[in-house]
Amino acid sequence: MTPGLSKNDIIEYNGSVVIYIDRRRRRLLRIHRGGTFSSDRGNLKLDDLVGLNYGSKVKTSLNIDAWLLKPLLIDYLELGIRRVTQVIYPKDLGLILVLLGIAPGLRILEIGVGTGNTTIVLANSIRPDGHVYGYEIREEFLRVAQTNLEALKLNQYVTLKLKDAREGIDETDIDAAVVDIPDPWNVLDSLHNALKWSAPAVFFLPTMNQILKLFEAVNRHRGFTDIRCCEVFLREIELSSESVKPSTTMVGHTGYIMYARKVFKYSNAKA
Ligand SMILES: C[S@@+](CC[C@H](N)C(=O)[O-])C[C@H]1O[C@@H](n2cnc3c(N)ncnc32)[C@H](O)[C@@H]1O
Repeated sequence: MTPGLSKNDIIEYNGSVVIYIDRRRRRLLRIHRGGTFSSDRGNLKLDDLVGLNYGSKVKTSLNIDAWLLKPLLIDYLELGIRRVTQVIYPKDLGLILVLLGIAPGLRILEIGVGTGNTTIVLANSIRPDGHVYGYEIREEFLRVAQTNLEALKLNQYVTLKLKDAREGIDETDIDAAVVDIPDPWNVLDSLHNALKWSAPAVFFLPTMNQILKLFEAVNRHRGFTDIRCCEVFLREIELSSESVKPSTTMVGHTGYIMYARKVFKYSNAKA
């Protein structure tokens, strides 16, 4: 082992590695005996990687450089999990974490777990002493989310529930919530009961029709304030020595982020 590096900086059996040749050729792999990495730029024997430091460069069978990177959360989200539903993308999740003030120790409600992409990011951010309570109506999605969380060893920070959030939320004193279901206007009462006073919620909405319907419902409900809505655009810049320019392709639309905070529900009637 190189002095100064912790054991975690060394590639081991059953550990994971990102093999990076270029942006198009990067793969997240678990190291197992006898395994191989194959690509159009050559192959690597996984046994040969064991004992090397993350950050090392190796040559493929076609003498092409390949870098051995330690997987980060973004690598698992992009390369490592099984997707069975639409997911909230990292560009939106980053802002959502800040809007909700997500931090270690908080208790978070998630309505609409789906693939568990958002659950993973929430669980990673509230650990080691916080907790995520995730509600999902489809058992098959819940199983996939559970497997994805286990793969990242985040399942201990999450309780997944096979339950329709319209029928109520079991928890109270929740610090923040993420709602990603087609009809969020139907869970406003459940959400209001679950949240702490003044706690924030984010609603992820693919269409403008949903924004309008939710905005009207939130106004009618009167239990929320500081209602905002935005959309996040991410345009990648292509980097080469000859030409630095925006990518000609991009993810045009993912969804809108609506935000509101729970307040006391006063009657409109004058005393
Ligand atoms: C778009 S997916 C959520 C994806 C998730 N945000 C992610 O990033 O992986 C929406 C999920 O909400 C679930 N759902 C819809 N209505 C629900 C309800 N009333 N209560 C709980 N889950 C619900 C659907 O079954 C679906 O799996």
